Amino acid sequence: MVKAVIKGVKVGYTDQGNGMPLVFIHAFPLSKTMWQPQVDALKDTYRVITIDLGGHGESDIVLWNDTLDDYAKNIIGLLDHLGIAQAVFVGLSMGGYTLFSIYRHYADRVKAMVLADTRAQADSEEGKAGRRSMAEVAFSDGAPAIANLMLPKLLAPSTIEHHPEIVEQVRQMILQTSTAGIVVDLVAMAARPDSTDLLPTITCPTLVIVGEDDQATPLRESRFMSDKISGSTLVTISEAGHLSNLEQPDAFTHALESFLKKIRY
Ligand code: MLT
Repeated sequence: MVKAVIKGVKVGYTDQGNGMPLVFIHAFPLSKTMWQPQVDALKDTYRVITIDLGGHGESDIVLWNDTLDDYAKNIIGLLDHLGIAQAVFVGLSMGGYTLFSIYRHYADRVKAMVLADTRAQADSEEGKAGRRSMAEVAFSDGAPAIANLMLPKLLAPSTIEHHPEIVEQVRQMILQTSTAGIVVDLVAMAARPDSTDLLPTITCPTLVIVGEDDQATPLRESRFMSDKISGSTLVTISEAGHLSNLEQPDAFTHALESFLKKIRY
């Protein structure tokens, strides 16, 4: 594992392989290790980069970096550090929200993008209230309580029943996330702007992927995004919930590879 110090803050990331750079942005409240199946499958063909957002995995937290625009700036800071001008970005859920911020502010850095299990809309008032309650749980009971709350939202019932190893892997990732990281994510997600108006302005090749049993960001949200992004492709992953890349890694990677093959580098 590698760490860079960018603007005084330690950032955990991996950087493997050569060729067209792919940058993977993780979900809440996980870490870069959620992308291991895709890293293993793609690192012989592409330059594959994963990053821990602040307070996750191996990255330090800066408490006042509490907007998704801050997350976007930090990711672009890592790309500057690595000398990468343009990349294909893959963001799942909160990673997708972050990707909207990247596109809004740094569109010239985006060669193509993959919006996985995410949505363009901002939180409703009810959603924001839910974030506040979850932040209170994080403060009082820490990451184990968040793991108990999040696991049924992240994984399909069939994954929970038949794949205890995936459940355990996701639980461990959540347990490694600092309370501050969890709370800052919740603040950042609650404050994120609506990105619906951004969708028709997206001109880069775009793939939208969603697990067919995703309860957190259901298929209709992905259809909505795909309908509004001209020329985008929508792929549904069977027998997967919100963490479609971990629940059905081969199907997810296959969709990604088919998309990447069409991008000229
Ligand atoms: C995620 O997986 O990143 C979260 O479910 C996103 C959210 O809570 O909106």
